[in-house]
Amino acid sequence: MLHLSSLSDIRQHTELLRQQGQRIGFVPTMGALHEGHLSLLRAAKNQNDITVCSVFVNPAQFNNPDDYRLYPRLLEKDAQMLAQEGCDILFSPLAEEMYKQKARLSFDFGELEQVMEGAHRPGHFNGVATVVSKLFHLVKPHQAFFGQKDLQQFAIIQQLVLDLSFDLELICYPIIREEDGLAMSSRNRRLAPEQREVAPRLYQALELLREKLQTMPVAQAKKEAEAFLHRFPQIRVEYLEVVHAQTLQPLEEVSGNMPVAICLAAFLGDVRLIDNLLL
Ligand code: PAJ
Repeated sequence: MLHLSSLSDIRQHTELLRQQGQRIGFVPTMGALHEGHLSLLRAAKNQNDITVCSVFVNPAQFNNPDDYRLYPRLLEKDAQMLAQEGCDILFSPLAEEMYKQKARLSFDFGELEQVMEGAHRPGHFNGVATVVSKLFHLVKPHQAFFGQKDLQQFAIIQQLVLDLSFDLELICYPIIREEDGLAMSSRNRRLAPEQREVAPRLYQALELLREKLQTMPVAQAKKEAEAFLHRFPQIRVEYLEVVHAQTLQPLEEVSGNMPVAICLAAFLGDVRLIDNLLL
């Protein structure tokens, strides 16, 4: 596996690969890799000649300085895992080179970013869109792979690709979970044992809400799921929403063949986790 860090190196390298007619599959990450990331890598490998994975803890997308400071950084281990999976190129730039100056450009994704993560993490999607645009320019992939875990992020990136005419295909893959249902996340490493124990309740609440929606109105079903989570004092729910799976706007009613997503964000101590289910 080739490990590149400088912007000029990745640029030149992927330019050459494109000239040779190689198809490039790209998996952007912030590292501390787990099976969720690896499932994207495997999919990228399956459908392309060359796979590129980036590992970059992007300062521009953290609205909470402690979250940025404490975000797990395990580059050596990540590199080993990627090499083992047959990744061709690891790109891990330095923040100083990615942001020679603070990015001034700002994005407006309209109603897509006025809910859930966008509403609770001011500036977050601006930082995501900035770094993903930079990475797309540098890596020039034919396909880019993202997880349903970050459902709103995927919707934002779809909008970004449309608005800026990026010439690539976006692909979204399902959430990989631990055996007890907890969605895999790099932040799970930060959970204390007693927090880790209670964390699968988040997924159980989503399942409960899905079940309740079959027989009762959205507001009532949400109350039941919230009451379930209130039984666990370690969990502080930030939002629990039933939304249209494409527009991400909250729904008061769910009907027949409408694509619906149930989304949740909650704190366990100072660790913030998100999860969702598609109905
Ligand atoms: P990160 O949180 O490292 O996630 C990288 C990719 O892995 C994202 O597309 C995310 O949705 C996916 N992923 C995370 N957990 C997953 C799981 N349990 N199952 C399946 N896929 C999962 O998302 C980011 O990084 C950043 O915002 C990034 C796009 C790299 C921009 O900085």
